[in-house]
Amino acid sequence: MDHPKRPSDPDHNAAAVVPGFGTACVKNRHIDDKAIHPHREAIYPTSAFTFPDSAEAMRLFEDRNAGYIYGRWNNPTAEAAARAIADLETLGTGLEATARLFGSGMAAISAALMGLLKPGQAVLTQHQLYGGTDELLRQLLAPWGIKRVQVDLNRMDELDQALSNHPEIAVVYAETPSNPMLYCADLQALSAWSRSANLPLIVDNTFATPWLQQPLALGADLVVHSTTKFLNGHGSALGGAVVSTRRDLMDGPIFQQLKLMGASPSPFDAWLLLSGLKTLELRMERHCANAHQVAAFLQGHKAVEKVFYIGLPEHPYHAVAARQMRDFGALMSIELNGGMAAAIRLMDRVRICTLATTLGTPDTLIQHPASMTHLPVPREERLAAGITDGLVRIAVGIENARDIIADLDQALEEQGLSLG
Ligand SMILES: Cc1ncc(COP(=O)(O)O)c(C=O)c1O
Repeated sequence: MDHPKRPSDPDHNAAAVVPGFGTACVKNRHIDDKAIHPHREAIYPTSAFTFPDSAEAMRLFEDRNAGYIYGRWNNPTAEAAARAIADLETLGTGLEATARLFGSGMAAISAALMGLLKPGQAVLTQHQLYGGTDELLRQLLAPWGIKRVQVDLNRMDELDQALSNHPEIAVVYAETPSNPMLYCADLQALSAWSRSANLPLIVDNTFATPWLQQPLALGADLVVHSTTKFLNGHGSALGGAVVSTRRDLMDGPIFQQLKLMGASPSPFDAWLLLSGLKTLELRMERHCANAHQVAAFLQGHKAVEKVFYIGLPEHPYHAVAARQMRDFGALMSIELNGGMAAAIRLMDRVRICTLATTLGTPDTLIQHPASMTHLPVPREERLAAGITDGLVRIAVGIENARDIIADLDQALEEQGLSLG
C-alpha cells in the first residue's frame, strides 16, 4: 500500500534525478577504503561482493581464487584469520601453507575427511578420539560407506597389518594429543609410514596449537583445528580450520567442501579469532606453566587415584610429546578414588574453576567425559580407551596457579579427602 505523499517527496517527473526515499535508504555508501588505514583488520559483514563490470565478474568466476564473489566461498576477514593460522603452522619451517576457515572444528574435520574419502574407502585412525570425531566416523560416515579402522598409530606392525587387511584405507587420521586421554602419535614416524603407503596424513592439532607443535613440519599433509579452543582463546566464537602445504587439496576438495557443504564462518567470529591469535604465545606459556603446577598438586593428593598429564614422566606418551612438542599443553584428566560420585562432587563444588565442556578459555574448565563430551561413545569402547566413570577432565586456564590449586583443594576437601 502506498503511503500518503509528503511535500518533500519528488514528483514522478523528477524521479530520474532524485531517487525515492526507499531507494535512498537502500543505497550502499562505501567510503573509499584506500583512504582508510585501520589499526585492526576490518570486518566485512557482507554475504556477497559486487563486480565493477560483467567482464570482471566473468574473470572471477573463471578463477575463483583471484577475488571475492560470495560469502559462503570466501570473506576477507575469514581469509585474514586463515592466513594467520597458516603462517603460524609453518613459521620457521621454510614451508608454505594455505588455510581455509570453517564454522566449527567439526566442520573442518568433516571437510577434510569427506574431501579426501569416497564411499568404499576407509580411514585409519587411533582408538581414542574426541567424542564428536568418533561419532562422525561411526554415525555419519559409516552409513555413507566410509569405514574406520582403529589401531595404535605408534605400532608399525599394527599399521602394516591394517593396510594388508584393509586395502581400501585411503587416509590416516591422528589426533595428538587426544581428547581427553592425551594419546600422542609419533608424527615423524607416522608421516614417514603414511608417505611410504602413499596415504595422506591428517592431524588434529587442536590441543597443541602451532605454538606447541607444527605437524606439517613433521610430515603431515593436512592439519585440522577447532579454533573454538586455544586459537580463539576466549571462548567467544566457534570456528575451525584446515591447513595444508598441498595446494591441490586446498584449492580442490577442501574448497569444494567449504563451498558446497556450506559450513562457512561468520566474519565476526573470524575477527574474534584474529583478536585471540594475537596473544596465543602469552596465553599458551601461562596455560602450560599453570598445568605443570596443577598436575604436581593433584598428583600428591589423597583423593586422586591417577593424574593423566603428558608433562608427567610416567605418562605413557610423555616421551613422544617431549620429542615433538615445545611444552605439554593445558589439558589433563584425573581419576578420583571415589569414582563417579566423587567426580560429581568435585564438579559441583568448584568455585573458581567452571563446569563447561570446552577448553582453551582463560578460565579453568572442568567436565566429566563419560557423561558429557564422550557420552555418545559406546561404553565398552569408552572404558577400553581409559575413559572411566570416575574420570574428570581439567582444562587449566590462565588464572594465578595458586588460586586454581586452592579451589581444587577446597572442592576435594569437601569430600573429606583433602591432603590434611
Ligand atoms: C580435539 C578436538 N577436535 C575437534 C573438536 C571439535 O571442535 P568444535 O567444537 O569447534 O566443532 C573438539 C571439540 O572439543 C576437540 O576437542
